Amino acid sequence: MTTPPSAQTRAATPAPRLSVIVPCYNERDNVAEMVRRLSAALTGIAWEVVFVDDDSPDGTAAIARAIAAIDPRVRCLRRIGRRGLASAVIEGVLSSCAAIVAVIDGDLQHDETRLPDMLALLDQGGVDVVVASRFAAGGDAAGLADAKRLRISNAGIKIAQIVLGQKLSDPMSGYFMVQRELFEDIAPRMTGQGFKILLDMLLSAPNRLRVQEIGARFRPREAGESKLSPLVMVQFASLLVDKLLGGRIPPRFLAFAMVGAVGLVVHLAALKLAGSAGFGFDTAQTLATLVAMIANFQLNNRLTYRDQRLRGPALWRGMAVFMLVCGFGAFANIGIARALYHGEHATKLAAGVTGAVIGLVWNYAVSSTLVWGRR
Ligand code: GDD
Ligand code: MN
Repeated sequence: MTTPPSAQTRAATPAPRLSVIVPCYNERDNVAEMVRRLSAALTGIAWEVVFVDDDSPDGTAAIARAIAAIDPRVRCLRRIGRRGLASAVIEGVLSSCAAIVAVIDGDLQHDETRLPDMLALLDQGGVDVVVASRFAAGGDAAGLADAKRLRISNAGIKIAQIVLGQKLSDPMSGYFMVQRELFEDIAPRMTGQGFKILLDMLLSAPNRLRVQEIGARFRPREAGESKLSPLVMVQFASLLVDKLLGGRIPPRFLAFAMVGAVGLVVHLAALKLAGSAGFGFDTAQTLATLVAMIANFQLNNRLTYRDQRLRGPALWRGMAVFMLVCGFGAFANIGIARALYHGEHATKLAAGVTGAVIGLVWNYAVSSTLVWGRR
């Protein structure tokens, strides 16, 4: 029996020294070009590329797989029911085997011709991570679409530098290279949430990593569109808060609590509105409670549980369950606060806060399993 041709090709392909991890969402028009450019940039280096696609509606995965079928250096990891650049990168790295991994965007904005120089820097030793920086010598940020994008980016960089306590010109870069063993060690501590995988890695490392920067151009995007959104910025904030708190409190709980605080404002506004519309207090309070619950559900669905966002019929079912759970949470909150206060175990404030915290934990714990996370 003869070996099938594809197996012969694989046997003839040397084990890769460099795995390039490419997160993609709706990048169908960029995949083939990406492979072409990597191929040109990495001559003389044994490499592989892993496209990690979150089941993009535009069929990115099908295209990557079609290329993989004829090019053994190419692989595609299709994730279903999840979204997120950082977690996509983590899973891509963990699925690969080369001693060194590079992470690069799939939209051709990062200058792939810098890869060999990055590899050379790692090979020299004494460095844990090589970061391609838009702001180091030889780099540029031409690809940042407009002045607003530039301002947002600069503000993010300042905040990240403070939290990191490390002088990095571009801590928000999504283009870097690292020893896979090191990444594997840090991976279990990473939050995996949001857009900022480099920052997540640096902040999650038990010891400060030795970072070397190298200038790289950030080109304007040619095809497809950016996924940066206000939600991404909220996720960025929650990553920083989580790491500042030493990872003791789950970031999702923090997001849930922040949404709860917004819900309180919504509640009070609705109460005032209903009052001025002539409703009695009890009716106004009931209406305000319902409005606040709906607002909380929507915000949690879009922010806190963005990666497991409910849509269509599941959205209505989820909202009904959420309102039941939180309704029960509100009873528990009021009941406990009353018992504490009337039993003279606590002052008004302490009783109120205890009731609210218990209600919050209940709402979070139960809704995270019954409303979201049911896959
Ligand atoms: N699998 C997966 N899942 N990939 C994603 C997701 C997702 O939810 N969201 C975005 N991506 C992919 C995109 O398809 C693209 O290949 C890459 O991640 C970066 O996304 P863009 O939407 O193009 O990001 P950007 O251009 O706004 O931001 C870039 O610049 C930042 C610095 O300002 C990225 O390189 C960031 O990593 C970088 O921090
Ligand atoms: Mn981009």
